Amino acid sequence: MQTIPDTAALAAEAGSTGRFGHELEEVVVERLEEVAEGVRRLTLRTLDGSEFARWEPGAHIDLVLPDHVRQYSLCSPLADRSRLQVSVLHTRDSRGGSRYVHQGLAEGDVIRINGPRNNFPFVDSRKYLFIAGGIGITPILPMIEAAEAAGREWRLAYGGRSRASMAFADELVERYGDRILLFPEDEVGRIDLEGLLALPRAKMLVYACGPEPLLRVIEDYCMGWPPGVLHTERFVAASLDAGASSEPFEVELTQTGTTVTVTPDQTVLEAVEAQGVRVLSSCRGGICGTCETRVVSGEVEHRDAILSEDEKQFGDSMMVCVSRAAAGCPKLVLDL
Ligand code: FES
Repeated sequence: MQTIPDTAALAAEAGSTGRFGHELEEVVVERLEEVAEGVRRLTLRTLDGSEFARWEPGAHIDLVLPDHVRQYSLCSPLADRSRLQVSVLHTRDSRGGSRYVHQGLAEGDVIRINGPRNNFPFVDSRKYLFIAGGIGITPILPMIEAAEAAGREWRLAYGGRSRASMAFADELVERYGDRILLFPEDEVGRIDLEGLLALPRAKMLVYACGPEPLLRVIEDYCMGWPPGVLHTERFVAASLDAGASSEPFEVELTQTGTTVTVTPDQTVLEAVEAQGVRVLSSCRGGICGTCETRVVSGEVEHRDAILSEDEKQFGDSMMVCVSRAAAGCPKLVLDL
């Protein structure tokens, strides 16, 4: 059995972020399975056999791996709280997280997790259209389960490079028949978004998860749909609008009692870390929520894919890995 190096310091640092604190929990990797080409499913259990906390469709957990914290959507059956499952794609440009899961992790290992947390909440509706690209299928699985249990009308359009790379495709078709529209690209081309989204449909929500180019096209199609219809989860933060602020500004850290300057080529996170202040972070790209920090004062230009428009307007927190002071705001005061 391999035990991951002690991460208590991470927990302590995370706890120092006030209401955005996190608690780490040790779990055992009970099972590792290849569920598609390059996709490995992890089944996790508590050390004492107790149940995990209740979670909702769209939730994810952080896996605390050596030198990495990575977020993965939960894709286990909602009703079975004796285990948590996540599925991890082995990405070529992995910064270490997926490579470790595929090459370094073994059944019986004890690792630490944080969460579940939910940045992709599932809203009740009469009808749903789910769209998944590649490993983006994972948060959609519990949503399908919830929609089915509630007797809602739904369909899934699921695309991938090839059938062999599309995790859970066969079992979805076997279970739900023609409500599953599969688009293996090497057989039928890309997902038919024109057919699915060209015309707005009444009382239908669209939930989409997948690569950034897919989500951008879906967003374009849904521009003319009523507000609030489209819900997306990204692997990378949305690209910035032209003209986004890149001026230097100051950040005052209330807990540390120092002020640092953030230069145009630095993130707040990098500037703060350069002063020896540790902040729990993971994706460093505005998509996981790990670095969420309370804003005491100052106006923020939000660049993340986590906060809702209302939360951005409210302005009491920010993702310090990507977000900055708004143009004309010389100083942010942060609870760090
Ligand atoms: S580290 Fe993931 S949002 Fe900042």
